[in-house]
Amino acid sequence: MRLRCALPLAVVLGSIAPIHAQDQGFAQSQSFLKTYCQACHIGKTPAGGFHLERVDKPSSLAAEAVKWASMARRVHNGEMPPKGAPKPTVDELEQFSQWTTQALRTEACAGGIKPGPAPIRRLNRDEYSATIRDLLDIHLDIGSALPADGGGGEGFDNAAETLFLSPIHSEKYMEAAKFATDFAAKEFKSRQKLLIAKPGPGVTEQQAARKILESFLPRAFRQPVTAGDVSLYLSLFEAARKQGRDYEEAVFFAVRGALVSPKFLFRVEQPNRTAVVQPVSDYQLASRLSYFLWGSMPDELLLDAAAAGKLREPAVLKALVARMLRNDRSLGFAQRFIEQWLGTRDLMGTKKPDTKLYPMFDNDEELRSDIRLQPVLFFRELLMQNLPVLDLIDSTHTIGTRNLAKLYEVKLPVPRDSANQPHWMELPPNSNRGGILGMPAIMAVSSYPYRTSPVLRGAWILDAMLGTPPPPPPPNVPALEEAKAGAPNRTMRERLAEHRANAVCASCHSRMDGLGFALENYDVIGRWRTEDAGKLIDNSGDLGPVHFKGSGELRKVLLDRKDLFVRNLTNKMLGYALGRGLTLQDSCTVDAIVDQVRNNGYRAQALVEAIVLSVPFRYQAPLPVAKPPAAPAVPSKLVAVNRPPKQIEKE
Ligand code: HEC
Ligand code: HEC
Repeated sequence: MRLRCALPLAVVLGSIAPIHAQDQGFAQSQSFLKTYCQACHIGKTPAGGFHLERVDKPSSLAAEAVKWASMARRVHNGEMPPKGAPKPTVDELEQFSQWTTQALRTEACAGGIKPGPAPIRRLNRDEYSATIRDLLDIHLDIGSALPADGGGGEGFDNAAETLFLSPIHSEKYMEAAKFATDFAAKEFKSRQKLLIAKPGPGVTEQQAARKILESFLPRAFRQPVTAGDVSLYLSLFEAARKQGRDYEEAVFFAVRGALVSPKFLFRVEQPNRTAVVQPVSDYQLASRLSYFLWGSMPDELLLDAAAAGKLREPAVLKALVARMLRNDRSLGFAQRFIEQWLGTRDLMGTKKPDTKLYPMFDNDEELRSDIRLQPVLFFRELLMQNLPVLDLIDSTHTIGTRNLAKLYEVKLPVPRDSANQPHWMELPPNSNRGGILGMPAIMAVSSYPYRTSPVLRGAWILDAMLGTPPPPPPPNVPALEEAKAGAPNRTMRERLAEHRANAVCASCHSRMDGLGFALENYDVIGRWRTEDAGKLIDNSGDLGPVHFKGSGELRKVLLDRKDLFVRNLTNKMLGYALGRGLTLQDSCTVDAIVDQVRNNGYRAQALVEAIVLSVPFRYQAPLPVAKPPAAPAVPSKLVAVNRPPKQIEKE
């Protein structure tokens, strides 16, 4: 029996008795371990220091969850038992790892859905740019001057794990803040937004500057500020005036100080010092929402809703989600999410098609950009029109441009007035262009730059779409022999046949290659072809016992596994929304979200809503008792900027 986690919040946040996984399943798992693992994992010196007695009681599912998870993974990956030891059959193996995964989830959910920690994180480069843009109303990609962020957690560059502050950052942030304020000082719109008060008859400079800061600082820090905050920046203004700057320069100087404040650069949430789970504050929720769906600061409406204490009402949140997705700023979310999830961000980097073979990647900037944006705009349409996320697997629409239609060599109805603009359009029947699979961007990032690889494409589907990545290749596997001049031409299938025949290789390759073969009609950049190496392409594929032919049938096979797909998408999006890697605890949240999405016809907005309404998104776990919270690592340099005289002297 599978336990559901879609419990009402009251139940979820209260305590419920742990429900133990079924005894029978547990007994089976023990007999599996006895048969296949005992030879090495008992006694005084168990292999790898891992003794089976650690996992011989049902309570170990909770106490040794990490060990259980590692067993499931290593068994699933075929690493344990190691080569040479008696091997379980594929059925036994799958049964063990599936039971374990499910039991662990059940166990993790038994205590109710719990939110995770609320880590302090720096705004990443994109978020920083967008926030500066919205705060100062300037159109300037200021983040390009900052170092790039690495990926963490679920593979996104907004994961708290990776967002610390290096000395290089603090230097760059000071430069960027100066650049931004200098720029804003010359922009009409920006000045109008910022300089809301002037010293005039009856208003002192001080009073005017104070008024400006009182309005600017809460927006910059995304929450109400204290009188102390205001006087700190007012003293920056005053110091600058004393140094001989004129009134406006001094105001912008104070603004610049705010832009290097940790309160601006970091998303710091009030730690939960109580013993129980607490909702995050309204302002924190406003920031969580806006950085999730816009990658930027909350706008006036969100801040107002927070001020009015309205944000925690589910109906208000739902309405906000729909409104935020319709806003232009959600394009940034679509782009960052899709390009990192599907790997198309690498299209112009490590995954760039060879420009000798595919010169359009060198000399046709328009086509290149159409190719890159197609999956992004496709996903955005799903969000805006609230279409099923299953359209990502197959659809009767796509994003087209005249250039893409040419590349596809299909006659597509192109509205004349916007022929060059990407547009949402109906696909002819059997176009082979539904969903993301035939998209040039996807086909390119799952190929080598100079040739297709059914192995890479299969691995890409397993990983990006189904969330079941193949185990990493073993070392010392000889590379595929590249086609040589004079040697007989062989199709990719023929070249891969040898290792498909070898049982060791087949244990992984039978899962990957069979998926990729069905996509062989797409060349590296997604053009349709019927021949490879002068021979007709055989596009028959398989996944386990299921056989299929060509990309159309492959899409159907993937649709049959839609729950895997939706679960994976949910994992990715929840990880992105929370800006951290997911834990076992989060898997019950994921289950609950998947149920809700399924019950809502797999609609895209239902997914986003369910994430926003989820416990981890709206609540905060208590701080661990033992460790007091670490203050954000702010180099002294950044703090120093708030001390005016020194900073002014430096210039
Ligand atoms: C022929 C001996 C042998 C058998 C049988 C065997 N293992 Fe191992 N196992 C090892 C060795 C050696 C290591 C340490 C090297 C490594 O981690 O790969 C290890 C390591 C492990 C680890 C990692 C230890 C840790 O603390 O992270 C786990 C988990 C594990 N085995 C699980 C299993 C399971 C489950 C089975 C049965 C399905 C099994 N092993 C069967 C030899 C064996
Ligand atoms: C544990 C799983 C696993 C096993 C076993 C395995 N491989 Fe692989 N292999 C992979 C993965 C995953 C990739 C994709 C690598 C990547 O992402 O770059 C791969 C890639 C390859 C490629 C590159 C494909 C291309 O288009 O160039 C070749 C060739 C290959 N494997 C051959 C073999 C052979 C031969 C064996 C058996 C001796 C073998 N592999 C066993 C996982 C495996």
